Amino acid sequence: MNPSPRLKRAYVETYGCQMNISDGELMEGILADGGYEIVRAPEDADVVLVNTCAIREHAERRVLGRVSQLNGLKLERPDLLIGVTGCMAQRLGETLLEQAPYVDLVMGPDGYRGLPEALARLERGEDVDHAALGAAETEDAAEGVVLIHGRKRGPQLAVLALDMDENYQGLEQRRADGPAAWVPIQRGCDHRCTYCIVPYVRGGEKNRSAVEILSEVRGLAEQGVSEVTLLGQTVNSYVWKDVDFPSLLRDVARIDGIGRVRFTSPHPNDVTERLVEVMAEETGVCEQLHLPAQSGDDRTLRRMLRRYTVESLLEKIELVRTAIPDIALSTDIIVAFPGETDAEFRATLGLMREVRFDEAFTYKYSLREGTPATRLPAEDFIDSDEAQSRLAELIEVTRAIQSEINEAELGRIEEVLIENRGRDEGQIRGRTRRNKVVVFDGDASRIGQYARTMLDRTTGATFVGTEVGAHAAVEG
Ligand code: SAH
Ligand code: SF4
Ligand code: F3S
Repeated sequence: MNPSPRLKRAYVETYGCQMNISDGELMEGILADGGYEIVRAPEDADVVLVNTCAIREHAERRVLGRVSQLNGLKLERPDLLIGVTGCMAQRLGETLLEQAPYVDLVMGPDGYRGLPEALARLERGEDVDHAALGAAETEDAAEGVVLIHGRKRGPQLAVLALDMDENYQGLEQRRADGPAAWVPIQRGCDHRCTYCIVPYVRGGEKNRSAVEILSEVRGLAEQGVSEVTLLGQTVNSYVWKDVDFPSLLRDVARIDGIGRVRFTSPHPNDVTERLVEVMAEETGVCEQLHLPAQSGDDRTLRRMLRRYTVESLLEKIELVRTAIPDIALSTDIIVAFPGETDAEFRATLGLMREVRFDEAFTYKYSLREGTPATRLPAEDFIDSDEAQSRLAELIEVTRAIQSEINEAELGRIEEVLIENRGRDEGQIRGRTRRNKVVVFDGDASRIGQYARTMLDRTTGATFVGTEVGAHAAVEG
């Protein structure tokens, strides 16, 4: 008789946005269901999956470096399977298998349901036919599954079908322990911002059933989660049957045990009066909004196909600030979009000075093959020194504003949800409702609880505080 085989071990390493991190948790859930033990280091694993991002070239280069580093493990253990999943896997597809022959599997964001089966087949070194690989069952999808033969050991497999029906209904994520959880409510994106790769690697907008989302959040609350962040590329365009985003948000905020609700990323055009009303009325919805502006110049916004003007963006911000005066706002900005003039860049600086965002995530435009902006005239592309100097100037302006805002908050007493240990022994850290990080003295046994904390000092971006008393359990 054969001894019973030990559990296969899988390791998932994720890059990119919260949606992708949440997908990493989904993959862990699927693998655990498929009989894998999830391990925390590639050295301990039989299967290593690198879950990648394609948003900018820099992000991709970093991950490619990491994948080739993991090949070092495979040289010691030829049986190790290496898979690349996520947005870069979808973008590069079979090219990646050709360029990195030690990669066994590339799988895009709609293929994860079929992950255990794909791995089992690769392990057996068996020829893989198109059918029966989860998402790859439809005719259209079958075209996305390709086998490349001719390697020394076993076949390579690419699962690249985008599937408009796949929203992973019925599957459970395997979340990291902690009081805060991400809940994807939408996948894909129906916009076509001309710089952006996301619609091409994740397909069109797909919304999950509201019934399922609410029952998932109830389950999380029962397990002790008290903060949820609803996720989607344009999260506030969510609609399922007669449930739109404001009503979903209201329902989530009213679930017992959920003390805090956030959502990201909303599109400015779907910030409606009704949404703002729900945000203002529901005590569970945090006083925080991430509102990606991308640029402060109308011509650039038009060429980015953002579908709003600076004026309409400012109106939305006014609407939000009137209803929720204390709201913390953050944004995303791209500098040096092809054709952006110096004056147009300065208009973006003007927007930053006018709005005074609490935080800004700032990026240099990065060319993404296949996106509409690549077809702009060659002379429009801005050289990297100029782009770098615009970015540096923008960062300086936004940091100065952030410091001023945060210094003005010193002395405030804020509710902090304690999420993890601080860097130093004896310290813990968490976030305020306005999404600001606070570090203070306290025992790690407090993780998951709320504290009332005085903001004493700021480094510019984060705070050092003192606890001024435990906070009563927050009821949803
Ligand atoms: N769906 C979200 C975010 C998408 S990606 C939204 O619409 O807000 C996150 C951020 O990356 C974007 O907001 C944008 O600022 C930036 N980004 C996207 N594509 C980029 C590119 N090609 N070059 C530089 N930054 C980019
Ligand atoms: Fe990309 Fe625009 Fe969609 Fe955001 S809204 S994911 S920037 S295409
Ligand atoms: Fe990156 Fe994909 Fe997210 S490209 S930003 S991981 S949706």
